Amino acid sequence: MSHTHEQQGLHQPHQPQEPALIELEDLCFAYEDSPALRHVNLRICAGDAVVLMGDNGSGKSTLLRVICGLYFCQKGSYHFDGHEVSEASMRKAAFAKGLHQRIGFIFQDSDAQLFCASVEDEIAFGPRQMGLAEQEVDQRVADTCRLLGIEHLRQRAPYALSGGEKKRVAIACILSMNPDVFCFDEPLAGLDAKARAWLLGFLKQLKTAGKTLIIATHDQSLADEVADYFVYMGDFHGYEDRPHVHIN
Ligand SMILES: Nc1ncnc2c1ncn2[C@@H]1O[C@H](COP(=O)(O)OP(=O)(O)OP(=O)(O)O)[C@@H](O)[C@H]1O
Ligand SMILES: [Mg+2]
Repeated sequence: MSHTHEQQGLHQPHQPQEPALIELEDLCFAYEDSPALRHVNLRICAGDAVVLMGDNGSGKSTLLRVICGLYFCQKGSYHFDGHEVSEASMRKAAFAKGLHQRIGFIFQDSDAQLFCASVEDEIAFGPRQMGLAEQEVDQRVADTCRLLGIEHLRQRAPYALSGGEKKRVAIACILSMNPDVFCFDEPLAGLDAKARAWLLGFLKQLKTAGKTLIIATHDQSLADEVADYFVYMGDFHGYEDRPHVHIN
């Protein structure tokens, strides 16, 4: 049975003729037998700042993982810049590499993202994977460290950093690849007031630079400050379990 967007409670902020960078159509995802995403229809255009909100377990982190090409939907489709992202297309190494280069994912838990022996190796990892010359890699590491104020941490082991320091390094690892899209999962979790203020400013800088931001958060003030529009996941105002969009 087909529904119109209106019936689904979706109020898309863009005209249908505007090209979407990220387009999810009737997308469903389940872990084994337990559904986590149900019939998601979402269009995100280049330069949008989107905040995903919703209760614990409503599927925000799952949706980010699907968008980043880490999980694949069982039903419906996901297109990035007009190309279908699926288990089959991601088996092609060049396509997968291209997607991971264009969409960066900053995990909620930085420990899940950091694995190298030193901070500078960690930040160099992505650019090296991209096949950049070592001189260009060095330049990117230096620029990124300066931008994020972590030059003093370059030789340190990532696992031995504080939570807030790890978060900056995790962001540096993505920033050094200069992706078009930044996905953040609970970026403010565990940060002190100073680090929160810094991150908020940094997100606004990314937005000004024309980057596409997709942020899952429970933090209303972050959402209010950064979002062009919100996507509410899960049961909300009688829309049952379908995500819907609200313009900020
Ligand atoms: N690896 C997994 N295996 C099985 N079920 C999972 C897995 N990860 C998440 N789930 C389930 O999928 C649903 C959505 O989880 P998800 O982590 O996407 O929610 P969330 O909105 O990010 O929640 P939170 O606000 O707590 O971070 C939940 O019911 C969760 O229990
Ligand atoms: Mg989550």
